[in-house]
Amino acid sequence: MSDFEIPRPTSGDVLELILDDHRLFEDLLRAARRNDVDREAARSALTELLVAHAEAEEEKVYPTLRKKRAIGAHEEEHGEEEHAEITEAIVGFLEAKGTDTEKYDAALEDLATVVNHHTNEEEQTIINPAREDVAVTVREELGVAWATRRNELLEQGCASLDQVKALLHRAEKEGVIATPAARDQAEEIEEQAKEEAKKVEEAAKEKAKD
Ligand SMILES: [Fe+2]
Ligand SMILES: [Fe+2]
Repeated sequence: MSDFEIPRPTSGDVLELILDDHRLFEDLLRAARRNDVDREAARSALTELLVAHAEAEEEKVYPTLRKKRAIGAHEEEHGEEEHAEITEAIVGFLEAKGTDTEKYDAALEDLATVVNHHTNEEEQTIINPAREDVAVTVREELGVAWATRRNELLEQGCASLDQVKALLHRAEKEGVIATPAARDQAEEIEEQAKEEAKKVEEAAKEKAKD
């Protein structure tokens, strides 16, 4: 991991610390797709950081933001659901053997999609309301609590394939994310709908040519 040393801040405004990590996700996603770096090291740094960051948010940040009424139950639960989607994408990413295969590229693209979606939504629906509704002193207390937990998880190592699979199973058991069977079924319905939509578009294009 020497190429991708992850900073270990210990204090600061939690909102800024979280934004710094979101920027780091982007850097590491980009590194993981370069062909002139140690991709294995980038993959490891990225997945460890994603897991530690999200676990610390769920344990230390979301509950307090709810208590302060900056966010509601919906935002908290939706954030947790998106974390579980990221966890699932990490499983696929870690399961890709080697780093120069089509499977690696596809799994990385899937991971980038869910991570970018989540950071965008978290910044709009959680970070922004917290900036308006939560005092800086509280944000600084949260900064210490969040950073301490995040760094502890990074220190222990929190994103082996087994650890990440266990996190995903926990999320399924707790109903944070739907079971694989339900998601397969939903995916099938989505595929059918997509095909129908494509037909409508093709028909419209043909009609325009007449
Ligand atoms: Fe985050
Ligand atoms: Fe998050």
